[in-house]
Parts: sequence; C-alpha cells; structure tokens
Amino acid sequence: MENLKLKHLRLGVNIDHVATLRNARGGMHPSPIAAALLAQKAGADGITAHLREDRRHIKDEDINALKEAIDIPLNFEMAATEEMLKNALRVVPNAACIVPEGREELTTEGGLAVAGHEAKLAPMIDQLKQAGIRVSLFVDADEQELQAAANLGADIVELHTGRYCDSPAGEERQQEARRIAHGARFAHALGLEVHAGHGLSFETVSDIAVLPEIVELNIGHFLIGAAVFTGLEDVIGQMRNLMDEARKQA
Ligand code: PXP
Repeated sequence: MENLKLKHLRLGVNIDHVATLRNARGGMHPSPIAAALLAQKAGADGITAHLREDRRHIKDEDINALKEAIDIPLNFEMAATEEMLKNALRVVPNAACIVPEGREELTTEGGLAVAGHEAKLAPMIDQLKQAGIRVSLFVDADEQELQAAANLGADIVELHTGRYCDSPAGEERQQEARRIAHGARFAHALGLEVHAGHGLSFETVSDIAVLPEIVELNIGHFLIGAAVFTGLEDVIGQMRNLMDEARKQA
C-alpha cells in the first residue's frame, strides 16, 4: 500500500476574484495575471481560473495570458458546455475541472451531477483526455457520484467543501468533515486522484489538509480577500504553513 503520508499537499490558488475587483472598474487593474505570477513566487503549486459563461470575472484573454505567463500548472474550471469545451481544447490547460454552473448563483453552489448524466459527459471527457488535458470533476463527497466519475474515466475528483465550510463550527462541521473524509477514502480506493476546495479559509483548512488521500486544495475567495490586508505572498505563506502542519498529523 502506497504511503499516503508522504504525499505533498498541493495548493492551487484561484485568482478569479482579482478579476472581479478589476471588472468593478472595467480597466486593467488589478491584474489577475500579475496575481498569478505573485502566487507562483509565493509557493502556489498551480493556478486555477474559472471562465464562466457570463464572463463575470475571468475573461477569454485572461485565460490565454495565464497559460502563456505561468510556469506552474493551469487548472481551467469550466461548465459542461460545447462552448467551454472549445475553449479548453484551444487553451490546453494542464487540467480541466468540470463544474456545475447556474446563471443566477453567486458561486458554484453544489457538486456536479455526474450519475445520470454520463451520456452528456462521456464525449466531453474523452475529447479533453485525447487532447492531453487531465479531467477533474467537481463533486459532492457522495459514493454514487464518485463511482460515476470513476466509471467515466475521470482522472481526478475535486470534493466540494462548501457545505463543510458553511456549517457552524462544532459537531455539525465535524460531521461534514467526516463525510469528506469518507469520500476521499472511497475515491482514492477507486483509483481517482483526490482534490478538494470551495470556501476554505485559515479556520477550516486544517481538517481537510489532514486527510491523506487529498493531494490538492484549490482556494480562492478567502486568499484574495485576506490579501487586501496583508498581501498575497503573506496569506499564501500562512495557508501553506497551516496545510503543512496539518499534513504532519496525517
Ligand atoms: N474549486 C472549485 C471547483 C470552484 O469552483 C471554486 C470556486 O470557483 C473553488 C475551488 C474555490 O473556491 P473559493 O473561491 O471559495 O476558495
């Protein structure tokens, strides 16, 4: 059995909300590309960006520029649409993470419905994989969804930590953490690479980082928000330390 404890926990920094801030005034500042380069310098293992259908934050030209600028892997979050598939095949990111997308939602509210939607997802996953793009599915820690992801040949599942982070601290949040822990073990046993993300902060990261099957966390909103006060390098450094400390307990 592989020694999970030795696996480095990667930090993917999501820079969408640097673009949100830029778009508030419609100009060039602050630049999500500059943020990505700073994140890379501060120790991020990857950069994540979500090109939404409504282009509310990241724009097409940002994705092109990111791909050119960074030396670490680009994780391209996309809805399961023909338009986004074309974008992914044009950009050829390291990984494409398929997420559900509701036009009215403030953020990605729940995991992707994989079970029951195999006929729609299978050709998309095949085309991405044929282009050399690793395929990740953003799902709830639910056995049925994880099994469906494995059956479809996904390389990765990213477990949705939103409900865990939104739960009040205490037993309710711990129950959610146990659900994610079970999902991580289940997915790993199916041969899937396991990532996690959504809503993670200094307060909530440790109980997820401690799970040995999880090899990557994708974190955005909290880091960008906290960076307003102490800077991106500082918050990435603090998050990195918390992740490393938790990992030692795994
Ligand atoms: N992972 C996925 C698949 C997401 O859709 C998001 C939000 O774009 C994140 C991680 C990051 O979530 P947050 O911005 O709350 O840290």
